[in-house]
Amino acid sequence: MEIRKALPRDADDLVRLRAIMLEQVIGGPPAEADLRVLRDFFTRWVYDDPLCLVAEEGGEVLGCIAASFYNHFPSPKNPSGMQAEIHNFAVYEHHRGKGIGKTLFVRILRECRDRDVGRISLYATAMGRPIYESFGFSSEVIVCPEMRLYYRDLVELDLA
Ligand SMILES: CC(C)(COP(=O)(O)OP(=O)(O)OC[C@H]1O[C@@H](n2cnc3c(N)ncnc32)[C@H](O)[C@@H]1OP(=O)(O)O)[C@@H](O)C(=O)NCCC(=O)NCCS
Repeated sequence: MEIRKALPRDADDLVRLRAIMLEQVIGGPPAEADLRVLRDFFTRWVYDDPLCLVAEEGGEVLGCIAASFYNHFPSPKNPSGMQAEIHNFAVYEHHRGKGIGKTLFVRILRECRDRDVGRISLYATAMGRPIYESFGFSSEVIVCPEMRLYYRDLVELDLA
């Protein structure tokens, strides 16, 4: 099995694997509109940021994992200020339980360490959680809730 950077030719697999991952998160298949947005994204993506790795064997993609990197102000726990979010982690069902997920996860952690990342975060599904915990990830009680504003509302704001 080879772990390599995702390429444009992997677009169909990346869409399918993301749909599999989303299904775990939302409890059902993602809407066709969501998949359309993804397919469109993968046709113009430069395949560098986010970084996406795929596991491949005999020309077949078995699974993938991605990480986005960004800078923040440093802190004692994160002296470099560099943060990473791991996402898009999925292995096709018939290939699970053979260590492919763990291998992908190790490779993305290695990439984080090579980039001097001081804080890694992710959203854990029930299936992903045992892997994350085995590497020392733990849930954090966040004192201030994460707040979000989405595009549709941002563009409607009167910012004059
Ligand atoms: C999470 C996922 C990527 C793991 O991929 P995988 O290739 O099956 O993972 P591995 O074979 O490397 O197994 C890693 C760990 O998962 C657990 N695991 C794997 N197969 C399991 C099974 N059949 N039953 C229970 N636990 C299992 C074990 O803890 C295992 O660790 P171990 O090998 O030390 O026992 C895969 O289950 C998946 O695609 N799930 C759906 C999408 C998803 O939830 N992604 C995570 C998003 S946060």
